[in-house]
Amino acid sequence: MTLVSLEKIIKNTIIQKSEPIGFDEFMNLALYYPAKGYYSSGEQKFGERGDFITAPETSDLFGFCLARQCAQVLNNGDELLEFGAGSGVLAAQILFELGRLNKLPSTYFILELSAELQQRQKDTINKALPELMDRVVWLSTLPKNFSGVIIANEVLDAMPAKRLINQTDGFKELGVDYQDDKLVWQALKQLYINDKIQLPLEATYGYITEINERAIAWTESLSEIMDNGVVLLIDYGMGRDEYFHPQRNEGTLRCYYQHKASDNVFEYIGEQDITTSVNFSDIADKAFECGFTVSGYATQAMFLISLGIDEYLLSEKDEDKRISLAQQIKQLVLPSAMGESFKVLALSKNTRVKLKGFKEQDLTCKL
Ligand SMILES: C[S@@+](CC[C@H](N)C(=O)[O-])C[C@H]1O[C@@H](n2cnc3c(N)ncnc32)[C@H](O)[C@@H]1O
Repeated sequence: MTLVSLEKIIKNTIIQKSEPIGFDEFMNLALYYPAKGYYSSGEQKFGERGDFITAPETSDLFGFCLARQCAQVLNNGDELLEFGAGSGVLAAQILFELGRLNKLPSTYFILELSAELQQRQKDTINKALPELMDRVVWLSTLPKNFSGVIIANEVLDAMPAKRLINQTDGFKELGVDYQDDKLVWQALKQLYINDKIQLPLEATYGYITEINERAIAWTESLSEIMDNGVVLLIDYGMGRDEYFHPQRNEGTLRCYYQHKASDNVFEYIGEQDITTSVNFSDIADKAFECGFTVSGYATQAMFLISLGIDEYLLSEKDEDKRISLAQQIKQLVLPSAMGESFKVLALSKNTRVKLKGFKEQDLTCKL
């Protein structure tokens, strides 16, 4: 048996089609191809030994604050659903804190595409909270008639996006072609037309940006399954004006390999993360259109501050632990770290609760 590399599989896909593939298809193969894609293979991704560190990997306080927000919303019998649960550490943090607050959900569902990560999540939760393991259920499809809280931390940015380039006749998709034994960028022939999605109104020749149709469709699917409750989306991203700023003329695409960022998607295929920032206006518009109320939008820093992240520091008696918590809080809230580039968007349905996480800041009008 010969082992075929993911790069070869992608090249063969292009050869078989006899035309370039869209960037979203390339990103989907690079991240999710069974057993070989970045998120489907067994390599360590999160944390210091991986390629990037997410907020729950940085500090338990992130999950504890999210749990406080969930506790405000969860009614008896409600459920929690986490998408793309990574190493499982966020689920463990949330369940731990909800237990302390006496607000455990009847079930904590996890919907994770990667079988390898599902196993890792089981190991993490079982190790941290064996007594709660029977409340955690892994799903392969969306549940129905959902009531409760849905959470997705850094999931939208991992959904395959389209990359567009402005040419003399308008925006075209930037695809991936195979020429002279190399993968290369190649604009597709036809114009990109989707009258439901707003493109930059003024863009110079060669201006590049991304559109995440899958994330928009995913938002719509949440409205179909939710009877009542709140969706909390946490990710790096911004509103449309900033997303399509004339100076952001190369888009937001980034790759992460062993904590180094680059924009070369054609190296380390299957071994590096590929990601684009979230256009939160697109998500909010779709959410509103399909019946959600946009009930809050804030920087991660102000969301965590509104939920009292400092109280955990003040109540810590041990000096060494306090110093360590202070370091973690800085990482989560400083503008130079994760505080401002990450945002929290809340969508709600059939609930009138004024969410505590947006007490100090609500930037909904910027969407
Ligand atoms: C950057 S990781 C974030 C992991 C984790 N939430 C954290 O904060 O550490 C992105 C995760 O999203 C998952 N993912 C991407 N698209 C998804 C989808 N449509 N449904 C469920 N999970 C998805 C990936 O498999 C991966 O686990």
